[in-house]
Amino acid sequence: MLTVPFLALPIVERKRYDEGPVQEHSVSATQRGRVLVVDDEAQIRRVIRKVLRADGYEVIEATGGAQALATLEQNDVDTVLLDMRMPDMTGVEVCKRIRSTHRHAHTPVVFLSGASERSVRRQAREAGADDFLAKPFDEAELRVRIRNSVFHHRHSAGMAQESARLRVEVDGQTRALHEARMALDRARRELEAAQVQTIERLTKAAEFRDDETAAHLQRMSEYSRLLARKVGLDDYTSEMIRTASPMHDVGKIGIPDSILLKPGRLTSDEYEVMKKHAEIGYRILGGSDSKLLQLAASIAYTHHEKFDGSGYPRGLSGEDIPIEGRIVAVADVFDALTSERPYKKAWPLERAVKLLVDGRDQHFDGELVDLFVGSMEEVLEIRKRLSDLPEAHHAG
Ligand SMILES: [Fe+2]
Ligand SMILES: [Fe+2]
Repeated sequence: MLTVPFLALPIVERKRYDEGPVQEHSVSATQRGRVLVVDDEAQIRRVIRKVLRADGYEVIEATGGAQALATLEQNDVDTVLLDMRMPDMTGVEVCKRIRSTHRHAHTPVVFLSGASERSVRRQAREAGADDFLAKPFDEAELRVRIRNSVFHHRHSAGMAQESARLRVEVDGQTRALHEARMALDRARRELEAAQVQTIERLTKAAEFRDDETAAHLQRMSEYSRLLARKVGLDDYTSEMIRTASPMHDVGKIGIPDSILLKPGRLTSDEYEVMKKHAEIGYRILGGSDSKLLQLAASIAYTHHEKFDGSGYPRGLSGEDIPIEGRIVAVADVFDALTSERPYKKAWPLERAVKLLVDGRDQHFDGELVDLFVGSMEEVLEIRKRLSDLPEAHHAG
């Protein structure tokens, strides 16, 4: 690499471009820019060299087209100053070849052309020339043209570098974001699975205390989801209702065996105790941050409320009863009626449907009854699909 003679650098320029005492000359030169001067006339090269070096540029020279191309294969430059007419190759030809290389596709090429060569300027422009400098040239004009050309090149190279750097950075951030999102998804899935398991286990615990069977819970939860979808709840909420609804009777854990497992009819006092399972279930499931457990708590609390306000535990009516409670009331009663229990036979379908319809706006939300009865085909499909489950009665 050529270094710039110390004295050739004006003091001001040195101050601006210096980065350290050891490399001050070459750093200054490289920072100012590097120019390749291509001309077969030594005299012209000498004048140009002197002017450009005085301005702080690093100057490399070539005496003809072939040498210029060879130099450019090895070096990056900020501008090529190219003679139009040389013995071995025309400037236009050299320019075409420079442009055809990947390395110098955007390196500025400034032509040195005599007045007689105006006619070939168009060809030069087509070959990729950026600027022209008429020979004999004026020193000030040379300096301005080169300064603009070098500045332009360095600026756009800097922009390209910066945008490449930004692209890498953005890619990295995008990847990190993607990974974080995947980890979050995984955590959420694990959490959801844990919630579902919690519910399934609690449901099992309740099953052991009651004569409700796993098949009943599955069917009533499927009916609940079907109704949720029919009434227009979104898929996610419908699925939540399906998962939470099997816990509606979990509060029976808190009812004494003497009442829960009593074979005969309950006395009215015993029945009052039995009714407590709704609130006990609510207390077991409530107070959690989990949306699923909150929903399960609401279902446990409200599945015995009646649309006309005659239900328990709070005697809520109409739309004061949360939709999940109204849905589960229909699904639970329908399945209890149409299933066999140790103490009763399964009701025929028509009789169960009649009970629902008769209970429109009294026991049940009339709209839900209509939707349920109107979906009987799907209801029966669920019933058929889940009828073969082993009806293991855990008690009584
Ligand atoms: Fe219940
Ligand atoms: Fe039930």
